[in-house]
Amino acid sequence: MKNDPVQIGLIVASSENGVIGVDGDLPWSLPDDLKHFMRSTKDHAVVMGRKTFESLEKPLGSRLNIVVSRSMDQENAIEGSVSIARTLDEAIEFAQHVDQQQDGYQRGLIWIAGGGEIYCQAIGRADRIVRTLVHCEIEGDAYFPELNPEEWLLDRSERHEVDDRHGFAFTIEWWRRR
Ligand SMILES: NC(=O)c1ccc[n+]([C@@H]2O[C@H](COP(=O)([O-])OP(=O)(O)OC[C@H]3O[C@@H](n4cnc5c(N)ncnc54)[C@H](OP(=O)(O)O)[C@@H]3O)[C@@H](O)[C@H]2O)c1
Repeated sequence: MKNDPVQIGLIVASSENGVIGVDGDLPWSLPDDLKHFMRSTKDHAVVMGRKTFESLEKPLGSRLNIVVSRSMDQENAIEGSVSIARTLDEAIEFAQHVDQQQDGYQRGLIWIAGGGEIYCQAIGRADRIVRTLVHCEIEGDAYFPELNPEEWLLDRSERHEVDDRHGFAFTIEWWRRR
């Protein structure tokens, strides 16, 4: 419905020691987690940092990609499915506007999809967090902040075991702000 508050969700996959990326890429290949990400964000506006956008092969289909960058020009973006915002505030405002006004998008929720710099700046504004906790401790160069249990409540979780396509077990956790 138009003009209802639009929630902000963070969606992330993090190792147990908080690593989310290494050398500009994901530290793992977890196809079922990717499916969960695609299913969760489909038809929503998705905000991401420039480095995360550049790590994608192509813009995420069936969702508006809003890239936060001080250096990228709109001409570098692919018409239609990608918009550039100069600040995180501008990105969130635009995503919320699209969520409310534009047909073809699901209403009421925008997603922030990383990377480390953007999660750090956005976590204080998030209403919910969907975190895939990957059961490993690894080295990396991009991180997700620790969740403060006084601020965040775990609603539910779903575990996925190691199998021939998944080198690590992981648990998808749905958190909401207390
Ligand atoms: N595991 C996961 O769930 C997950 C999810 C997403 C990404 N990742 C990983 O995380 C890594 C990338 O994260 P990162 O922290 O290096 O980079 P990032 O957050 O994706 O992007 C950083 C860039 O965003 C722009 N930016 C950040 N804050 C801004 C602000 N307030 N205003 C305007 N622009 C701003 C700047 O772009 P300009 O330099 O153009 O100004 C900055 O260089 C990669 O390894 C990626 O694979 C992991």
